[in-house]
Order: sequence, then structure tokens, then C-alpha cells
Amino acid sequence: MSDPLLQLTGVHAGYGDAAVLDEVSFSMEEGEALALLGRNGMGKTTLLATLMGHTLMRSGSIRLRGRAVERLAPHRRPAAGLGWVPQERDIFPSLTVEENLTIAGRPGRWDLRRVYALFPRLEERRANLGTQLSGGEQQMLAIGRALMLNPVLMLLDEPLEGLAPVIVEELSRAIRMMVEGDGLAIILVEQHAHIALGLTRNAIVLERGRIVHRAPSAALMEDHATLERYVGMRVGARAA
Ligand SMILES: Nc1ncnc2c1ncn2[C@@H]1O[C@H](COP(=O)(O)OP(=O)(O)OP(=O)(O)O)[C@@H](O)[C@H]1O
Ligand SMILES: [Mg+2]
Repeated sequence: MSDPLLQLTGVHAGYGDAAVLDEVSFSMEEGEALALLGRNGMGKTTLLATLMGHTLMRSGSIRLRGRAVERLAPHRRPAAGLGWVPQERDIFPSLTVEENLTIAGRPGRWDLRRVYALFPRLEERRANLGTQLSGGEQQMLAIGRALMLNPVLMLLDEPLEGLAPVIVEELSRAIRMMVEGDGLAIILVEQHAHIALGLTRNAIVLERGRIVHRAPSAALMEDHATLERYVGMRVGARAA
């Protein structure tokens, strides 16, 4: 049998003395879209940061297509196939949109032309500086920049947070195209559980750094008791 795309086994990680992730184990198949849910402060960002090597991992293993990623320095993980769109977006403010996209890239299916096709607004704003973009455009740029690295697994940390409904729809469509059209595997962290569940095949729920629930996304969508208990019901929620 071939290796899973991603396999975490018994991962404990945190910051300094603070333990956050507690015995986290799960695996993902090639092309799978996984929702990572949980209330504020439960460890979602810490899990993505651990995949990227930005936390202190005490024990456990992380394998990407069978390769032991936990031994790789953080700056090597993008080249190993992990794409990261951080919660803060981290656009380079003094570079143009196009420079932000082309400053780092790896050859593959995603190039400037395809990123512009996915986000026509970015092409319209190609000469604008990072600081001159709306929140939604910055998010598109952050995703586009991660795509330019042609990852095998894309980590998206609350990409819809704080955006207007029309932009949420535009980004959701783009994420669906990445997953269904392109077969890109993603881990999608999202407070708006119903949107995340609609875009993914499977879901895991974190509470205080532990996985407390896992289910197919379609089943969790109907499981109101579990959603209420661990996620907080924000049905069809939109930040007002
Ligand atoms: N750099 C850090 N140093 C120390 N503790 C941290 C750091 N970042 C996060 N934490 C702590 O780790 C725990 C998990 O935080 P994390 O950011 O992973 O939660 P989250 O689920 O992403 O929350 P949110 O939905 O608010 O983004 C929290 O108790 C938080 O205070
Ligand atoms: Mg977070």
C-alpha cells in the first residue's frame, strides 16, 4: 500500500514550557480536503504551525508521503511540499502583487497565469503594492503566493475571517476549484464550520489541543449536537 499523503502520530507540541497539542494523530489521503475545527484557542493554528516547524515539537512524528518532515528545518518545509497561508496573511507590503507572487516559486502546475485565472482581481491589481489591497485581495494574494510554490498540501488558516460575504463566496469558489478542479489537498481551519464542512470531505475537531471528534464533513454538518458542543453553532455564519 502506498503511503498516506500526511500522517501524524502522537504529536505533542507547544511553545516553550506551554504544551498545546496533546497526542494528535490523524492521516490524510492524496487530494483530500480536511476541515480543522474548534473554538478559539484550542490549538488549530498551533497544529498548522507545527506542520511548518514553527513550534516546539516534543514527541511524535509527521510524515508527508512517507518522508519524516519533523526533522526538516522550517525553511525546508515549503520545498518538501507544504504550502502555508498564515492567519495573518503576511503579505510583503513594499512589493507589488506580482512581485509577491513571483518572489518565490517552484515549477509545477501553478504559475502566474493560472493564479491570475483563479483570482482575476489580482491580475487587475498586479502593479499595486501589498499595502494597497483590501483584506479580501490580501487573502487572495496569500493563497496565490502559496500556490506558486506548488505544494502537495496547502494549509489555510481562517482564510475567510473578517471578510465581506461577497468575498467569502469568491474565495470559497476558488478553494473549491483548487480542491475539486485541481485535486489539491488542503487543511482548512475555519470558524465558520458550515462553510468549511461544505468545502471538505472529512473533519477533525480540536479541543484543548486534543482531537475530540472526527467524521466525514457531510455527517458532521448534520450533527448539530457535536457542532454546538465543540465548535459553537455559527450556522451559515458571516462576520457581520
Ligand atoms: N506564540 C505563542 N506562545 C505561547 N502560547 C501560544 C502562542 N500561540 C498560541 N499560544 C497558545 O496556544 C493555545 C492554542 O492557540 P492557537 O493559536 O493554536 O489556537 P487557535 O485554535 O488557532 O485559536 P483561534 O481560533 O483564536 O485562531 C492557546 O492557549 C494560545 O494562547
Ligand atoms: Mg488560530
